[in-house]
Order: sequence, then C-alpha cells, then structure tokens
Amino acid sequence: MLVLGIESSCDDTGVALYDSEVGLIDHVLFSQIATHAIYGGVVPELASRDHIQKLLPLIKRLLLQTAHKLDDIQGIAYTRGPGLSGALLVGAAFAQSLAFARKLPCLGVHHIEGHLLSPLLESDRPSFPFLALIVSGGHTLLVNVQALGVYQVLGESLDDAAGEAFDKTAKLMGLAYPGGPLLARLAKNGDPTRYRLPRPLLNRSDLMFSFSGLKTAVAQLIAKEDLTSAKVQADIAASFQAAVVDVLVTKTLSAVKQTGLTQVVVSGGVSANSQLRAQLLFGLQCVKAKVFYPRIEFCTDNGAMIAFTGCLRLQAGDVSEQDFSVKPRWSLNDLSYPFGATREKPPM
Ligand code: KG4
Ligand code: ZN
Repeated sequence: MLVLGIESSCDDTGVALYDSEVGLIDHVLFSQIATHAIYGGVVPELASRDHIQKLLPLIKRLLLQTAHKLDDIQGIAYTRGPGLSGALLVGAAFAQSLAFARKLPCLGVHHIEGHLLSPLLESDRPSFPFLALIVSGGHTLLVNVQALGVYQVLGESLDDAAGEAFDKTAKLMGLAYPGGPLLARLAKNGDPTRYRLPRPLLNRSDLMFSFSGLKTAVAQLIAKEDLTSAKVQADIAASFQAAVVDVLVTKTLSAVKQTGLTQVVVSGGVSANSQLRAQLLFGLQCVKAKVFYPRIEFCTDNGAMIAFTGCLRLQAGDVSEQDFSVKPRWSLNDLSYPFGATREKPPM
C-alpha cells in the first residue's frame, strides 16, 4: 500500500511517500524557520499561510522526484493533532479533499505517535514493546509502547517542554530562534559545573518533568553575571544543558527500572543534542538497555513519520470519517485502540 503522508502541525511542511512493501520511498520538507526567526518564535497565522503556499508544490516535487503519479497513491495520512489549529487545518483540509476526490482511505494521525514510531523507519530498529522518550519543542513525554496503538504515558512535563526550555533560555541569552541548537553549540566550550542550577522534580519518584523554574534560575544568573564574557556565556549554556540532560537521563533510567523495558527510543528535536545522547548511551548501557534514534532529519518534524504511522494504521483497518476537524490538544492516552471506538483498550 502506497501512502502519502502530510505533516503541518507547526512550522515545518513535510510530505512523504511510504510503501508497505518497499519502505520509505522519499520525503520532502520545507522549514519555516526563516519566516519566524525575526519574531523570536512561531507566529501561528504566518505558519498556516505558509503551509497553504507550500503543500501543493512540495507534493508535486515529491511525485516528480520519485517518478510516481497521483494515481499510484492508495491512502493518505495527515497530522490531526496536537499542534497549531490553523496549521493542522491546512493539512486536514488538503488531505481529506484529495482523498474524497480520489476515493482513497484517509487517516488523521497523532503527531506524537509519529515521533515515537519514527525509529522503526531505520534498519537498526527496536521491536515492540519499548520505552519512548519524546523531547521536542512542544512535548516532553515518557511512554510505554506495548504495540501499535497501545500506549501508556508514564510521565510528561507540567509546564515547558525540554526544547521550549532550551529555546527560552537561549532567547534570554540573546541567541537567535530557535536557540536550542545554538545554545548546545555554545555549551561545547563551557564548564557544566560552574553554576549549580536546579534539577526540577528529580527527587520525586514519579516520572513528571518541569523545566520552567530552570529558565527562571538562568534569568537570575544572567542578571548578576557579565554576559559580555564569552566564557560566562559558555559556562551558563553548559550548566543549563547539564541540568536538563541530568533530569531527562535520570527519569528515563527510572522508567526503565519501573517498566523492565530494555529498548529505549528517543525522538523529537532535542534528541539531536549530543550531550543527551552521550549520557543516555552511558546510563542505558549500565542497565543493559539499548537506545534507538531515528536518523537526524527524522528527529525533528517530518512527513515520513506520518506516512509510516498512517500506513501501519490504515493497513490495520483504521480510517477516519470524512471530517476536517483537528485536535490541537490531544493526549496520547486518548488514542483509540485497536482502531475505531468499539473495542476496549487491553490492560498494560
Ligand atoms: O521536534 P521538533 O521539530 O519540534 C516540535 O515538534 O515541537 O523540535 C524542535 C526543538 C526546538 O525547541 C529546538 O530548539 C530543539 O528541538 N533542538 C535542540 C537541539 N536541536 C533541536 N535542543 C537542544 N539541543 C539540540 N542540539
Ligand atoms: Zn514534533
């Protein structure tokens, strides 16, 4: 089954073709970073308008470069949520209209499900069940993944997501948007032990996260330190990064202990962070667990994870109503299982 995937939940327009027999055919992505950078963050209305302009040309390019025709497509998957409502609506309206015109099955996919299944696109991939750590600009989650559609959220952020904390802290330090990767680069030359920043909720036995206090602690530090010094900048960046990584790694190891799962999938933009990768590798090796990542281009938002997730679900018999509605807020715990509302979720 050849499935067209469409991602438009935030500031990336992504499209991909996934074939159940062959695997991923190809994907194309347009990032709106340049549009939003001057505002220091994503402007939802600009994001929606840009998705409208880019979606059709991107799909045309995808078909051209894969030598496929519209007629070859057998199913359509799009991101139904969570995300920005206007941006999601662009993808939903496009996907549902195309599916209606071509009489194709169409499915609205959960964005986070896409992230947590994305490492399955790689040749070195985990098998069910596994633990997933999702760390992106909008989400921080630990999920027990038992099978396709059978997920239990073990912990999530009570306030800022990990990527959001990186971006807000970077902004405080005068770095451009999105500041996460820039702050990580700055941290490479810094001393992570110079400033002892808080590790929020680290002493609690549950798997919840909180990062907004950390950002406030950095703001207080900046107020009394000399930020014109490159050494101070690098040391603050390294100390902040060490605190976030410490919390993420410790909670992930606790989740491994609590669930007994021995495979850990890490996805979302912050999973590109080299310090996080190094410490997770070390920590998970110590408890004999193995870590899996999607390739770097699939750590952040992309159409491939939506085409792939949509293909798995469509093949399992899941299909959406002809319904343009989107779910800007949508908990992973509310995903229907197996598919449709009639059967009950099995116990974890
Ligand atoms: O997954 P993603 O594209 O966004 C959402 O779906 O929300 O991830 C983007 C986030 C941004 O917050 C960005 O600053 C962060 O990932 N990020 C990083 C790094 N690369 C991207 N944060 C820390 N270190 C990095 N190397
Ligand atoms: Zn995402």
